[in-house]
Amino acid sequence: DAAEKGGFETFMLKEIHEQADAVAETIADRTVRPDGVDLPELDDELLRGTRRIIIVACGTSYHAGLIGRYAIEEWARVPVEMDVASEYRYRNPVVGPGDVVIGITQSGESLDTLAAMRLARERGATVIAVTNIMGSQATRDADATVYTRAGLEISVAATKTFVAQVAVMYLLALRLAELKGTLDVERRTELVTKLKRIPHDIGELLAHGTDAIDRVAERHYQQDFFLYLGRHVGLPVGLEGALKLKEISYISTDAYAAGEMKHGPIALLDQDTPVVVVATDSPVLDKVISNMQEVRVRGAHVIAVASEGTDLAEHAEETLSVPPTDWMLQPLLAVIPLQLLAYRVARLRGLNVDQPRNLAKTVTVE
Ligand code: AGP
Repeated sequence: DAAEKGGFETFMLKEIHEQADAVAETIADRTVRPDGVDLPELDDELLRGTRRIIIVACGTSYHAGLIGRYAIEEWARVPVEMDVASEYRYRNPVVGPGDVVIGITQSGESLDTLAAMRLARERGATVIAVTNIMGSQATRDADATVYTRAGLEISVAATKTFVAQVAVMYLLALRLAELKGTLDVERRTELVTKLKRIPHDIGELLAHGTDAIDRVAERHYQQDFFLYLGRHVGLPVGLEGALKLKEISYISTDAYAAGEMKHGPIALLDQDTPVVVVATDSPVLDKVISNMQEVRVRGAHVIAVASEGTDLAEHAEETLSVPPTDWMLQPLLAVIPLQLLAYRVARLRGLNVDQPRNLAKTVTVE
């Protein structure tokens, strides 16, 4: 058992530390060209002709899809719809020839995702699977497959498969942008260069950045509620951080678009409520900072995930720093302190993080 965990106390911690490799393997031969991405699994003509993309997935894979939506729309200017697979399959969706449906599922066996993919294919859409498991059902139900290469994930809480899925979504968005001519060569080169640096950045983050996380966990692990806020690509990061904490620590969490706070969730804030805010550098950082101020005025406690070099001390009680990168790529780094925070809190509560109660690694029933 100890050998299987490679010296780590749990599979989840081991898998968190395998994330640099998961991204490196996933992008490796696909980012050989300095100014673009190669995805030979996907037909160029299909991508060039794509008018609309629909992404279906469950849980953490859904959050990876949300990040993909921002990247595809920003870089390739193709409209993207998203739905959780269990909703999509029962809402008689308008889908057909000309549409590309992407099913994201690390296991390749989630029943709802498979059903949503099959429905779309029956109606004439082209279906692409994004999965971590060779030969899984999703690969058999799809017209094409793009593999993540995270290696087998044992812990019920997905970590390394998430960053690998997000990396695939960036690759796909960059490939589409190149084929559609929507991103100039300088910007493509910049993004490919920064994407290739991410494994190194993850390594740095894991090597140096965990003391502050331990302090935050010590301070808040007995709380019964955490709120997560984010904007733009910071929002799916917040959603994923909140899911991780509830899954393994059984603390109730809510995650919201920061701009929605005044429309309801602000009523939840109390003295000392921990509010985790994804506040990495981006064109919407000023807006995020105003939200942090609104939270603090109510006496709640802001824990900010910030880019190194941006001083948010004035607006947050605690800051968890991540290396700077392109703002669109930040989710690959910003999610890591949130995974570790959930992990530390669950351990302090004495819980079995690898096998949380009531959860299965793969949901093959409805
Ligand atoms: C992740 O931590 C969860 N255990 C869960 O939400 C998971 O992401 C979901 O069940 C989807 O699984 P899949 O990627 O294998 O389809």
